[in-house]
Amino acid sequence: MFRKLKGFRDMYPEKMRARREVFDRINMTARSFGFHEIDAPSVELLELFRVKSGDEIVKQTFSFVDKGGRKITLIPELTPTVARMLASRKDLVKPVKWFSFPKMWRYEEPQSGRLREFYQFNADIFGIAGIEADAEVLALAMEILDSLGLKDKYVMRVSDRILMEELLKKFGVEKIEEAFRIIDKKDKIPEEVFIENLQNVAGKDAAEKIIDVLNVKGSVEDVISKIGDSPRGEILLRLQELLDGYGKKITLDLSIVRGLAYYTGIVFEAHDAKGEFRAILGGGRYDNVVQLFGGEPTPAVGFGMGDAVLELIMKREGVWPEERMEVDVFVAIVPGFRKEATQIAMDLRKEGFRVDIDLTGRSLGKQLKYANRINAKYALIVGEEICDGKVVVKDMRSGEQKKVEIGKLKEIIKKD
Ligand code: HAM
Repeated sequence: MFRKLKGFRDMYPEKMRARREVFDRINMTARSFGFHEIDAPSVELLELFRVKSGDEIVKQTFSFVDKGGRKITLIPELTPTVARMLASRKDLVKPVKWFSFPKMWRYEEPQSGRLREFYQFNADIFGIAGIEADAEVLALAMEILDSLGLKDKYVMRVSDRILMEELLKKFGVEKIEEAFRIIDKKDKIPEEVFIENLQNVAGKDAAEKIIDVLNVKGSVEDVISKIGDSPRGEILLRLQELLDGYGKKITLDLSIVRGLAYYTGIVFEAHDAKGEFRAILGGGRYDNVVQLFGGEPTPAVGFGMGDAVLELIMKREGVWPEERMEVDVFVAIVPGFRKEATQIAMDLRKEGFRVDIDLTGRSLGKQLKYANRINAKYALIVGEEICDGKVVVKDMRSGEQKKVEIGKLKEIIKKD
C-alpha cells in the first residue's frame, strides 16, 4: 500500500462536506462585498516569485525544470500571479476587486496549521491608493471571520511599514530593510537573540526605543497618542474611523512586519485571541508590483487566508460544521419496482434534492441500514403501493413511517 506524502491531505467525503460549507460561506461573503471570482494557473515560472516575494518563499517552492528546460514552480502564493494577470489587461475598470480560493504549495516543515499543500482564499483591490481600499479589504477579512462564528475569537493586528520606517529613521537607524527583517523574526527566536540582533543593526539606544514601540499595542487612538502624532498617524486614525462604519475594530501593533518583500504600506495579520495558533490570515498594501510586471502603475491591497489555521480555530471554538456525509433522500426498492423508483428519484433530483437510490438489489432491511449509514434524512420505499400512486416515507431521524401520495412527497421532504 502506498502512503501519502508528508504535509498533504486526503479529503474524504465527511470532511469535504464540512469544508465545502465553510468555503462557500467565505466566497459568499466576498461576493457580498462586490468582489468577483477569478482562477489562475497552479504552475508559474519560478522567476515570477524571485522578482518581489523574497528569498524565503522562493526557498520554499516545489520547483523543477520542465521538459522544455524552463524553471517552473507550483505556486507558493497568488499575489504575483494576480498582479501578472492585472498587468496584462489594460481594459479593466478600476477599482478591480478580485477573489479566488486556489490550492498552493510550500515546502515547509509540516506542523500544526502549516502544510505543504493548502487552500488559500485571496481577495485584492487594485487601482485605489487611498486608505478606503485598505479599510474595505480589512473589513472583508473581519466579516469573513465574524460570519464563520469567530467574532471576538481573533485580533486583527495592523501595522504600517511607512510609519515604522519613519520611526526607525527618527531613531537614527540606517539599515531599514535589515531592521524590518529582524523585527519580523521577533516572535520566532529567543528574546535575547532578538535584542542582540537588533542592537547589531540599530545600535543600543535605538534598539531600546524600537522595543518600546513594538511593545505598545492597542486601539489606533491609544497607540498614536503614545508614539506621537504624524501624517501617517492621521491616516491610521482615518482607517479606524472608516472601519467604525463597518462596525469593525483593529489593534495597532507595530511588531507586525510580514515576511513578504513587496508590501509598501499597511500590513496586517489576524491572530487567534488566545494566542494558540499561527496567523489565521495576512495581507497588506503592495503598490509597486503591478508596474514591476509591466503594467500601468497600480496601487494594490489584499490578503490571503489559508484553510489550515482557520480549521483549527473553528474546531476549537466549536463552530466547524459537523463532518458527516448527508443526502436528503434514499430511495429503497422492492424487487420489481426499479423503474418506478428511478422515475421518482429523478423527479426529486430535478427539484434540487440530494437523492441516492439502491443499486444493489439487496434486502429492504439492508437498504435501510445503508440509508442510515449515509445519513439520509428520509428513506422512500417504492413497492406495490405505487399502483395507488403512493410510496412509504420513513423519517430516518424519528423512525416514523407513513404512506404518502407521490404528489405530496416534495412538501414532506422539504429542504430542511
Ligand atoms: P502569507 O502570510 O505568506 O501571505 O500567507 C497568508 C496565509 O496563508 C497565512 O496567514 C496562512 O493562513 C496561510 N499559509 C501560508 N503558508 C501556509 C502553509 N504552509 N500551510 C497552511 N497555510 C499557510 C501571502 O501569501 C500573501 N500573498 C497574501 C496577500 C494577498 N497579500 C496581498 N494579497
